[in-house]
Amino acid sequence: MTFKKNILCIGAGYVGGPTMAVIAAKCPDCKVTVVDVNAERIQGWNTDRLPIFEPGLLEVVQEARGRNLFFSTDIAAGIRAADIIFVSVNTPTKTFGHGAGMASDLQYWEKTAHEIVAHAGNSKIIVEKSTLPVRTAEAMEQILQENAKGIHFEVVSNPEFLSEGSAVRDLLEPDRVLIGSRQTESGARAAQAIADIYTRWVDAGKIITTNLWSAELSKLVANAFLAQRVSSINSMSALCEKTGADVGEISYAVGSDRRIGPRFLNASIGFGGSCFKKDILNLVYISRSYGLDQVADYWQAVIRMNEYQQERFVQTIIREMFQTVVGKRIVLLGFAFKANTGDTRESPGIYVASKLLEEQAVLVVSDPQALENARRDLAGLAGSVEFEPDPYRAAAGAQGLAVITEWEEYKSLDFGKIFASMHKPAFVFDGRNILDHRKLFQIGFNVFPLGKPKLTHFK
Ligand SMILES: NC(=O)c1ccc[n+]([C@@H]2O[C@H](COP(=O)([O-])OP(=O)(O)OC[C@H]3O[C@@H](n4cnc5c(N)ncnc54)[C@H](O)[C@@H]3O)[C@@H](O)[C@H]2O)c1
Repeated sequence: MTFKKNILCIGAGYVGGPTMAVIAAKCPDCKVTVVDVNAERIQGWNTDRLPIFEPGLLEVVQEARGRNLFFSTDIAAGIRAADIIFVSVNTPTKTFGHGAGMASDLQYWEKTAHEIVAHAGNSKIIVEKSTLPVRTAEAMEQILQENAKGIHFEVVSNPEFLSEGSAVRDLLEPDRVLIGSRQTESGARAAQAIADIYTRWVDAGKIITTNLWSAELSKLVANAFLAQRVSSINSMSALCEKTGADVGEISYAVGSDRRIGPRFLNASIGFGGSCFKKDILNLVYISRSYGLDQVADYWQAVIRMNEYQQERFVQTIIREMFQTVVGKRIVLLGFAFKANTGDTRESPGIYVASKLLEEQAVLVVSDPQALENARRDLAGLAGSVEFEPDPYRAAAGAQGLAVITEWEEYKSLDFGKIFASMHKPAFVFDGRNILDHRKLFQIGFNVFPLGKPKLTHFK
C-alpha cells in the first residue's frame, strides 16, 4: 500500500508511543513509524506487553500496529523515508556541569538533530514534541540548516499536554492542540500540515496556532500553573492541620467559584512525575538567565512547597508513631506518582521510602503497576524493603499504612480484614485523602488525613 504521508517519531516513550498510536489509528492513510535507541523498548512495543501502562493504549496499538504503525530501531531508515519527523526524546534536568539541577539536558535532543542532518535526503518538517526551553527551535534550525545538501527543514513546535494515566483519552479528546511556527509562508504551510493530521479527529476550533516561542513557552507555563495549584492547596493543608479547618471543605468552597474552578484542588502528598518539577526548574533557570530573579524566585517556591509537603508527611508518620519507626512494618499503598500509570519518576513514594528506611522502618511497597520501577528506584538504599502487589498480604503484621498513590481500588479494600491482620495500635496516613476516614476510625485505626483533623483512639 502507498501511504499519503510518512510520519516518523524519534523517541518511543510515554509521549512518543501513545501519541503516534493515536495518530496512526486516526490516519490510516499515513505510515507512522516510531524509532528509539532503546531496543528493549521497541521490542516491547511490538508485543502485547507494552513498555508502559496506560488504560486503553493496547487496544489503540493493536488497531494500527502492522497496518500503518511500526516500531523500529532503524533510525536512519526512518529519517530517510519521513516527510514529517516528531522529536519526542527525553529532556531531563541536567545533573552535571553548568546549570546542573536546573537547566534541561538537551544532549538527546541535539543528537537527534545531528542524526536528521546526517540521514535526510530531502526537505522535511521537524516537529518539537518534547518539552523544551523557549527558543530551542532556533538552535534546532541552526543545526539543521548547516547541511551541505541544500535541504530545507521547517521547525514547528507542537508540545504535548497529555497526562499520564489518561493519555489515550487526552489524545483522543484534547482540550487544545498547540502548533507554533515561524511567521513565514513556509512556516504557515508546515503548521497547516501538522494541523491537517489532528483535524482528522480534533475540532478545528481546538487547534491553536502561535509563533514558535509562544508554543514552546506555553508548555512550560501550563505545567507551572498546574503544579502551582497543587502547591497552593497543599500549603493550605498545613494551615488546616493547625487550625481545625478541613482542606476538603476549603477546596469545595473555593473551587465552586467559577473563576477558580474545582480541578487540581485536592490536597495530597505532592506532585511527582517526570515533568512538573523539571519544567518549573527549567522556567526558573530561563528566568534567572534573563536576570528576572523575582520571577524565578516566585516559581521556585512552588517546588519548595512540594518538597515541604513530602517532608511534612514523613514527619507526621514518625511523630504519630511515638517518635520512632525502628523495626516497624509500614506499608506504602501505591508507589506510582499518580494512579493508572506504572511510572514512578519523581514519585513522592521515593522520598517517603528513603526517609522511612533511614529511620530503620521495615518497608513494604505495594502497587498494582509500579513494582518493577519501584524495585529499580529503591535498589541502592540500605534497609529492609519488601515488594508485595497484594495489599492484604502487604498489610499482614504491619503497624502503619501510608497511601502514596490514589489508586481507585484502594477505596474499596476490606479495611476490617486488614485491621484484623495488623499489629495494634494500627495507623493510616492518607497521603491522597481518598479513604473513608470516619469508617477507618470506627474500625479501630488511628487515622491521619492531610489537612483535616486526625482521628485517634488515644486518650
Ligand atoms: N511523560 C509525560 O507525561 C509528558 C507529557 C508531555 C510532555 N512530555 C515531554 O515529552 C518528552 C518525552 O517524554 P517521555 O516521558 O516520553 O520520555 P521517555 O524517557 O519515556 O522517552 C524518551 C525516549 O527517547 C529515546 N531517545 C533518547 N535519545 C534518543 C535518540 N537520540 N534517538 C532515538 N531515541 C532516543 C529514549 O530511549 C526514550 O525511550 C520530554 O521532553 C517530556 O518533558 C512528557
